[in-house]
Amino acid sequence: MMPTHLRFRRRSFLGLLFLFSLSTSALYFIYSAPGIVNEYVFMVQARGIQLRENVRNIGSQVLEQVVRGAYSVNGTDYAYDFNVSESEAPPTTYLPEGFTYLPSQVCPERLLSMKGKLEVNMSEVSLEEVEKSLLEGEPNRTPGGFWKPKDCLPRWKVAILVPFRNRHEHLPILLRHLVPVLQRQRLQFAFYFVEQGGTEPFNRAMLFNVGFKEAMKDLDWDCLVFHDVDHLMENDRNYYGCADMPRHFAVKLDKYSYMLPYTEFFGGVSGMTVKQFKKINGFPNAFWGWGGEDDDLWNRVRYANYTVSRPHGEQGRYRSISRHHRGEVQFLGRYSLLRHSKERQKVDGLLNLNYSPLVSRRPLYTNITVRLSRELAPVGDY
Ligand SMILES: *[C@@H]1O[C@H](CO)[C@@H](O)[C@H](O)[C@H]1NC(C)=O
Ligand SMILES: *[C@@H]1O[C@H](CO)[C@@H](O)[C@H](O)[C@H]1NC(C)=O
Ligand SMILES: *[C@@H]1O[C@H](CO)[C@@H](O)[C@H](O)[C@H]1NC(C)=O
Ligand SMILES: *[C@@H]1O[C@H](CO)[C@@H](O)[C@H](O)[C@H]1NC(C)=O
Ligand SMILES: *[C@@H]1O[C@H](CO)[C@@H](O)[C@H](O)[C@H]1NC(C)=O
Repeated sequence: MMPTHLRFRRRSFLGLLFLFSLSTSALYFIYSAPGIVNEYVFMVQARGIQLRENVRNIGSQVLEQVVRGAYSVNGTDYAYDFNVSESEAPPTTYLPEGFTYLPSQVCPERLLSMKGKLEVNMSEVSLEEVEKSLLEGEPNRTPGGFWKPKDCLPRWKVAILVPFRNRHEHLPILLRHLVPVLQRQRLQFAFYFVEQGGTEPFNRAMLFNVGFKEAMKDLDWDCLVFHDVDHLMENDRNYYGCADMPRHFAVKLDKYSYMLPYTEFFGGVSGMTVKQFKKINGFPNAFWGWGGEDDDLWNRVRYANYTVSRPHGEQGRYRSISRHHRGEVQFLGRYSLLRHSKERQKVDGLLNLNYSPLVSRRPLYTNITVRLSRELAPVGDY
């Protein structure tokens, strides 16, 4: 259980100290060992949480304070009293065996066919092979991977948005894993893979904004899932509908020893309704390189007074395909941007975004390729 209410008195020198060591390690990170240092930082954070939960001693609070200090130059200009709901639903009751429903009824959310723990198969596979096996018996499926249940009315129309670059081999692995799950969950869905072209640093957030705008041209989706290409859920009761939104799905990642790295962590896989996403002006476009955009999204959600829910217990477990952020540079400017999340929210997001995509349909997904650059999302003064 996460504590529901956290409030920290902070000492500015700790923040400064940490910022200093952070920028040193970040530089080291760029020039020598992508990934490793970052994962180390997260492990320290994860350990901080473990300590807080197990011992609740002074040491862990200091560690927490130091980690959080990274957001702020003088340690006083950013309030941390977020409330996080762990989706306090009682242990889910799944429908009994043989439960029947009619094609004219809305699909149940908790079917017995959702068994819980899933095997994760990370072996590489060709796209053609996955297409063949998933489309067996469905020769007339609309290109783009559009699917909806026939035995009931889908409760949610979910666009799965997946940004990536240089990870083609992960796409079929994700599809092989996730398509059958979404079908068991009786959701209407389609996949949008959004690939970044050009040579600018990876901009995960802007790719989500592009994916969203393109997806909305197809259908009036009401629910969005923001999905990293290398994350595979380990439990099919992690429902991708928008019942309890905004939602952070990827709570327990193998690479963080199945612990939430920090309370406001919103990365990996998250989701919200289309209405909510529009209200917060989408993701920021200003985060070039790895890191920070998910924290900014968290801030936007919070400023809109939404509460983030998370799946219970083991339902939020994920494995990731291989080492994260391979060859992508870290975004060093993120802390200064995060200090102005609130002001920037109005001017940077869905509303200031221009782009020219190449869109094509594959049997199981829509391929959106887009070259991104800073001029495409001009930000006025704020
Ligand atoms: C530090 O905190 C003060 C308020 O105590 C604030 O006015 C100032 O802008 C902050 N400095 C920075 C660099 O954010
Ligand atoms: C968080 O929750 C606690 C108790 O449930 C409440 O007293 C507090 O005001 C809440 N804080 C915010 C910022 O909503
Ligand atoms: C993993 O997937 C491949 C190809 O899709 C299949 O041949 C293999 O048997 C699967 N492995 C397991 C353990 O299910
Ligand atoms: C959020 O709640 C606060 C306090 O209740 C209110 O002042 C503010 O206007 C709300 N913000 C939005 C975006 O609704
Ligand atoms: C998407 O289309 C582009 C060409 O428009 C192609 O180069 C790329 O390989 C395709 N990507 C996927 C994932 O299908």
